[in-house]
Amino acid sequence: MAKNIIFYFSGTGNSLKVAKDIASAIQDCELISMGKSHKLSGTYERIGFVYPIYAGGMPGAVERFVKALDLLANKNSFIFAVCTSGSGSAGGLTNISKIIGGKGGKLSYGESIKCFSNYVGLYAMGSDADNKAKAQSQATKQVIKDIQSLVVKPPCKNNPIALLHGPFIKWMAKRDKGFNVSEACNGCSTCSKVCPVGNIKMQDGKPIFLHNCEQCMACIQWCPKQSINLKNKTQNRGRYHHPEITLAEMINRK
Ligand SMILES: Cc1cc2nc3c(=O)[nH]c(=O)nc-3n(C[C@H](O)[C@H](O)[C@H](O)COP(=O)(O)O)c2cc1C
Ligand code: SF4
Ligand code: SF4
Repeated sequence: MAKNIIFYFSGTGNSLKVAKDIASAIQDCELISMGKSHKLSGTYERIGFVYPIYAGGMPGAVERFVKALDLLANKNSFIFAVCTSGSGSAGGLTNISKIIGGKGGKLSYGESIKCFSNYVGLYAMGSDADNKAKAQSQATKQVIKDIQSLVVKPPCKNNPIALLHGPFIKWMAKRDKGFNVSEACNGCSTCSKVCPVGNIKMQDGKPIFLHNCEQCMACIQWCPKQSINLKNKTQNRGRYHHPEITLAEMINRK
């Protein structure tokens, strides 16, 4: 069993890159996706959660995952959360702090890292992916130092944007009803493999969306044919994934 464990959720690789960077620095660390539930066996020195901010808070899948996690044997571990976002963590760290507190644990450290904004369902992708990736790596360095030294830094108070979170998350789960697949689709099933929550099944060589969507945008962003779109909105908005994260890493998650 490893000494440390990090749970991550990631649609376009920003959070996976942060999780990988922290894991390789603290060493002896398991990396586990929060797409499906996990049973902690044994005790860990550090337990981390790394995830993107969606609508000012945690992705629904992350919230469900943390709520279901049995922390009883790990109440004294150094528990940390690092979220990635376009502009800030809003309520995404205070949410997780409350959930962990409710289980008798303590979120010792919470920090957010500014990254490339990936919500192609809402806006066009910027052209500064490489610069944003550099800034992300730079910001991750301080977070790594803190986590290595077990620095205690609980998250600060909610930002007012966090109030929008609950209603938005509910609305987003069914937003895949607006997804369409163009004739360019070659049936490769990348979309189904990259979906972190199993919301896509292949039928007659085409993806079908099951309406338990996290809006992580992985399917739209990683489709090699750019054939998945949200209504008529995303056709000309470009596509993004973190430049140092490969499709294989996204698919071969544990
Ligand atoms: C559905 C959705 C909602 C988002 N909402 C926010 C937000 O409220 N605030 C923010 O700063 N960034 C927001 N973002 C941007 C992501 O948090 C950011 O790009 C993150 O680093 C993506 O991580 P990933 O590459 O690991 O998926 C949103 C992205 C998506 C897909
Ligand atoms: S990833 Fe794109 S091309 Fe491949 S099956 Fe899905 S929609 Fe079709
Ligand atoms: S269907 Fe697409 S957007 Fe929805 S959770 Fe799966 S990969 Fe993410």
